[in-house]
Amino acid sequence: MPAEGSTGFSGPQYPGRITSSVIIACCVASSGGLIFGYDIGISGGVTSMDSFLSKFFPSVDQLEEQGTSSSQYCKFDSQLLTLFTSSLYLAALVSSSVAATVTRKYGRKCSMFLGGLTFLVGAVINGVASDVLMLILGRVLLGIGVGFTNQSVPLYLSEMAPAKHRGTLNIGFQLMVTIGILIANLINYGTAQITGGWGWRLSLGLAAVPALIITIGSLLLPETPNSLVERGKNDQAKRILVKIRGVADVHPEYEEIVAACDEARAIKHSWSNILKSKYRPQLIISSLIPLFQQLTGINVIMFYAPVVLKTIGFGINASLLTAVITGIINVGATVVSILLVDRAGRRPLFLWGGIGMFLCQVAVGALIYAQFGVSGAGTVIKKLAAPVLFFICVYVAAFACSWGPLGWLVPSEIFPLEIRSAGLGITVSMNMLSTFAIGQTFLSMLCYMKFGLFYFFAVWVVIMTLFILFFVPETKNVPIEEMMLVWSNHWFWNRYIADEDIIGNRYSNYGT
Ligand code: BGC
Repeated sequence: MPAEGSTGFSGPQYPGRITSSVIIACCVASSGGLIFGYDIGISGGVTSMDSFLSKFFPSVDQLEEQGTSSSQYCKFDSQLLTLFTSSLYLAALVSSSVAATVTRKYGRKCSMFLGGLTFLVGAVINGVASDVLMLILGRVLLGIGVGFTNQSVPLYLSEMAPAKHRGTLNIGFQLMVTIGILIANLINYGTAQITGGWGWRLSLGLAAVPALIITIGSLLLPETPNSLVERGKNDQAKRILVKIRGVADVHPEYEEIVAACDEARAIKHSWSNILKSKYRPQLIISSLIPLFQQLTGINVIMFYAPVVLKTIGFGINASLLTAVITGIINVGATVVSILLVDRAGRRPLFLWGGIGMFLCQVAVGALIYAQFGVSGAGTVIKKLAAPVLFFICVYVAAFACSWGPLGWLVPSEIFPLEIRSAGLGITVSMNMLSTFAIGQTFLSMLCYMKFGLFYFFAVWVVIMTLFILFFVPETKNVPIEEMMLVWSNHWFWNRYIADEDIIGNRYSNYGT
């Protein structure tokens, strides 16, 4: 097993300065994360607004108003209500595999543009929705948009960044996700105060703003050198490489990209190729990481924090305000991970974040048990609300330093070019599938598993932390087209890498 923080990588390092053109390009592309984040943050708040519930989900509204549910744990349990939240992820799941082909054939920019545009139409339909059908149609379009941008943006960032700063620049995506969530929380807090019951329209319709930013922004971005070479535009690729690296001699890195592309061209079907034994480490890691990211339970907090807090006795304003507080912590801790990721490495962040989340989940489960017991019939004990809130905040901070950003960064940096787009498509699909499953089942799970739900997630955090410890090697500082060396040096994954995958091709120049 590699030592923490060590990559075992002894290959080349290319010029690693972060130039202003890389920074600008990465900032613009990261704004793709805004639409994803805005949506995550907006749905939880909107589904706790009475005016929204009474218009679209009157049965949930009545249950809540009359307090007729026998258990505190079950008062929001409605499949239709959860479908509103989770339909988006189902659409994103399907669209991300289409996006993988568009991203490979037409470039990363094209997918970002299509994603932004579809999201824009979805936002408008949601803002003017008059029935549940319109609402869900809007959500599906938003989902298609998210599928396209989440597939292309992390990949774009990883390809633009010099290896030494790839973690920092890639986490720009997650930073924008968290900023999007925070803005949405603030908007919900504001629109919930609007008398007249139309505040939710503003919340949903304002999603058009981040959508416009990424749609227009994508038109102004340069394409990545890797994608240009992949599509035979070598001269343009070289020019862009000189510009973004800020040095005249980009020959070694350019040659590396061209060699990676030649290998990629020899492979016709990236979808079936990904099943080959030599890609097994990447395939397994990039499928499990998004699944595990969702099994941390983060979206229980992101989607349903206002609903959960209402369940344990907070008023609507206090619930929405709490979502703002967790939103601020989410952004702050993501900044911390930006500062640490290329220094400490990915593994220490994963491991410490896992320990932090586990402790908080156990504590929250115990506190909720103390409040409502097994039956859920207990009354609200106000003094327990503050410790619950405290542990939720620490939990969000631990996630935002670790699985939040790394759940997107690591999959985007481990695939060789020939299967990169398809691989990222799998990561996004897996993320969306698990987000859908949690979004759709959480309120029922809370109703049936009660406080035990928090222990359910805690057990998963233990499993994923052990998985990182034994199976995920350090990838910091490894040039993206050299990642194969990391697997061949790993105690477990090296069994999938045959000598000819290393010897006799471009990796052999660098020794292992
Ligand atoms: C996850 C989302 C989550 C968000 C919270 C992202 O990395 O993919 O599911 O809601 O982080 O900040």
